[in-house]
Amino acid sequence: MYDFDTPAPRAGSGAIKWDLRGSAFQNPQALPFWIADSDYFSPPELTEALCDAVRRCVFGYVDPTPSYREAVADWFRTRHGWEIDPDWIVPATGVVSEIANLVRAFTAPGDKVLIQTPVYDPFAGVVKAAGRSLAENRLIRGEDLRYTMDFEDLERDLRSGVKMMILCSPHNPVGRVWTRDEVTRVAELCQKYGTLLVSDEIHWDILMPGHAHFTAGLAGTPENIIVLTAPSKTFNVAGLKCSNAVIPSGALRNKLVTWQQQFHIETPNNLGLVACEAAYRLCAKWCDEQNEYLAKNAKLVSDYIAEHLPEVKVTPLEGTYLMWLDTSASGVGSVELCRAMTKEGAILNDGLRYGDDGFVRLNIACPRAQLEKGLEAVVRGYLAAKNRGK
Ligand SMILES: Cc1ncc(COP(=O)(O)O)c(C=O)c1O
Repeated sequence: MYDFDTPAPRAGSGAIKWDLRGSAFQNPQALPFWIADSDYFSPPELTEALCDAVRRCVFGYVDPTPSYREAVADWFRTRHGWEIDPDWIVPATGVVSEIANLVRAFTAPGDKVLIQTPVYDPFAGVVKAAGRSLAENRLIRGEDLRYTMDFEDLERDLRSGVKMMILCSPHNPVGRVWTRDEVTRVAELCQKYGTLLVSDEIHWDILMPGHAHFTAGLAGTPENIIVLTAPSKTFNVAGLKCSNAVIPSGALRNKLVTWQQQFHIETPNNLGLVACEAAYRLCAKWCDEQNEYLAKNAKLVSDYIAEHLPEVKVTPLEGTYLMWLDTSASGVGSVELCRAMTKEGAILNDGLRYGDDGFVRLNIACPRAQLEKGLEAVVRGYLAAKNRGK
């Protein structure tokens, strides 16, 4: 059994989540549940592979090796049932920066790029920064608090001429793991209207019991699909800057690579590649155990909130380690609510940044004792803000 209970000593290490508590949130003592990385240690096998690489004392320019490509392709096949040609992989230094590159390489200024809100905020940021216009397909929340896609609205948007759609799968922040049917419908609609589907699947390995991820790579046709994924969330190696774009179409791949060459956009650094290969070759069991640990954390949150703040509605978590809480019954905006929670000792993200006031996002990838302490602060902050608002 792996250990997820021992907190990794992150404060003072430069970790954004911990070291920006004072400057960005004005409470350097609060526990952080905001930015999406984890507060326990990465898999020991991965750390050992990095130590071995460091001991070799060679840090020159590198290109992803055939062995790296095979490891990535094997993971895709064994974990996600997706058979790819290793040559389809375009390694990159991050998913968001790669989305920014794709927007610029495959659309023109003024073109429409569609996102499904509420959603991870950098999607809108990179589209707007590139001078493209945003099309917004709002997700629908059902009585069971589960979100689904508004396919009618999506088709209307795509018909009106959308160059690219960015799918978030599994979805941050609403925690959905889109089903085979949903992903297939999206891919078919994109194909029908000539829209390039860019599927951000960075959270695809973080799955709650009973949920299986269906990659858009199995639904799209080569001409209209690009899948982005990374070991960064699953194995907590975001700081090593290594992700993988999978582009089945040779024409699209060449276009992107040629576009990136203009700016000397490079492949990941050598330790990022080592970590990715080690994660995919050696850490499947760690990944499974992490999912079990996260499922227990998610249950703790649901139970605790049901007992102490029954008016707060917890969105069922299917995948990712990010929980989406409906706090609208407080009558307080999510920015103000988060401020009150921070003051009481827990930093969460306000829902407004993802496009929905009245919600907060809670990162549960931490030792259980930290989460328990954080939940107490969440309740205190919620009640303080609500009572002040009366
Ligand atoms: C959906 C999604 N995509 C991308 C990222 C960030 O990826 P990267 O650090 O590789 O840019 C995150 C981080 O939270 C995310 O949730």
